[in-house]
Amino acid sequence: FKVPEPVNEPVRGYAPGSPERASVKKRLEEMSNQVYEIPLIIGGKEIKTGKFGESVMPHNHKHVLARYHLADASHVEQAIAASQEAWKTWSEMPWHERAGVFLKAAELLAGPWRDTINAATMLGQAKTIQQAEIDAACELIDFLRFNVHYMTRLFEDQPYSPKPTWNRVEHRALEGFIFAVTPFNFTAIGGNLCCAPAMMGNVVLWKPSDTAVYSNYFVMRLLEEAGLPPGVINFIPGPPAEIGAATMARPELAGVHFTGSTGTFQYLWKTVGENIEKYHAYPRVVGETGGKDFVFAHESAEPVALANALVRGAFEYSGQKCSAASRAYVPTNIWPEVKKLLGEYLAEAKTGDVADFSNFTSAVIDKRSFDKSSAYLAHARESSEAEILFGGEADDSVGYFVQPTVIETHNPHYKSMVEEIFGPILTVYPYDPAKLDETLELCDKTSPYALTGAVWAKERGTIVKLTNALKHAAGNFYVNDRPTGSIVGQQPFGGGRASGTNDKAGSMLNLLKWTSVRSIKENF
Ligand code: ALA
Repeated sequence: FKVPEPVNEPVRGYAPGSPERASVKKRLEEMSNQVYEIPLIIGGKEIKTGKFGESVMPHNHKHVLARYHLADASHVEQAIAASQEAWKTWSEMPWHERAGVFLKAAELLAGPWRDTINAATMLGQAKTIQQAEIDAACELIDFLRFNVHYMTRLFEDQPYSPKPTWNRVEHRALEGFIFAVTPFNFTAIGGNLCCAPAMMGNVVLWKPSDTAVYSNYFVMRLLEEAGLPPGVINFIPGPPAEIGAATMARPELAGVHFTGSTGTFQYLWKTVGENIEKYHAYPRVVGETGGKDFVFAHESAEPVALANALVRGAFEYSGQKCSAASRAYVPTNIWPEVKKLLGEYLAEAKTGDVADFSNFTSAVIDKRSFDKSSAYLAHARESSEAEILFGGEADDSVGYFVQPTVIETHNPHYKSMVEEIFGPILTVYPYDPAKLDETLELCDKTSPYALTGAVWAKERGTIVKLTNALKHAAGNFYVNDRPTGSIVGQQPFGGGRASGTNDKAGSMLNLLKWTSVRSIKENF
């Protein structure tokens, strides 16, 4: 069997007056006018626990979108039992039959489900239509199509067989279940952290982020409509500590597939370590965590394109992409012009409700995130080492709004230059171009993270120099581009150092984690 050669899903423009704009606007209105009740889904059944969490709009936090039932340790037990029942048939199902579920899900998402998943992502995670479209629609569709394709390529790779033997490798599902712990910032990542292991024959317990339960629930429903058998993925939102402890102590834990904070990932690793003697097999631990992503400009950088990349890279989705630019090194000879351009672009960039499609950004995800960004703004206002050039205001009276903010500092170790913020704050360190080598070293050593980074220069020798100096500083590295916006099938995504295990989402490298290979030698 062969699967169709994948292509990236075209990004819709939602231009004023277009039918696609009218259609998603209608869905936004319908969905914001009702309060959904979201059950757990275990073994294909809806479970109502009677204990509730609430999904609200970050940009209008009094507006409740859904009440979702909360799982506890007893539901983890149920979910594990259901997953192990499903494993018996799912792990034995031929790969091309499993693939059909995910290819169908991609087609449903490209068509009838697109508006619903986009609208849910806009309302529940405060994404603009453009940011929802590239995430919840295109990226999730691409993950599904490309991973199915990579799975088939992985299976094709077979060992050498000198006559009269026949050597072969068999890709088996991991015995047990995969614990998928997924973030708020990309609906596509939630879907992918479950679907990549599942297509390889594994079964999954899905603990979505509290602040993405709403959109993630619709992804779960979409997968069911695509024919996912009961119990293959079990949807169990709930208190992280309780769900985590109950899940990780079970001998059937075969893997953890995680995207989120560094602290949570370290907790998961430690818990695996503490329980290591209990498990049937060593669990695979795959995670993508934080970043302190950089833009490093050489004096030959083109100021207009650079300023544009800084605005898009730092502020799209209010800086809440793990890939977002949050520190920039700009040489003093071009900084005045870049600064002026940043001011001009930001003067045009409006922040507000996602229903107004002309807004560039909306709110940050929740109160905790708002408070964190606000604290950095307050620090910058008070500090003699920092100057707020643009933005700097925050207001949570209606929604958790933080203005896109540029801070200038002459201390390369200033707080907002080195700490992860996960909000719309870019700190710029103007450097003396005569000190290029020292500044490159600073850039490499300032942060424990190594997720994304971008360098800007004209001439090839300089590009090579910057690229080599920052070899280990980013897992996704860009030349003359912003450090965000990786595309499945084009730039496999993930970082090293404190940013994660770098098992590249959307690639064969990731799928390799979800297979246990049996080598078979047969003599004729
Ligand atoms: N893959 C996302 C990006 O590159 C996180 O922006």
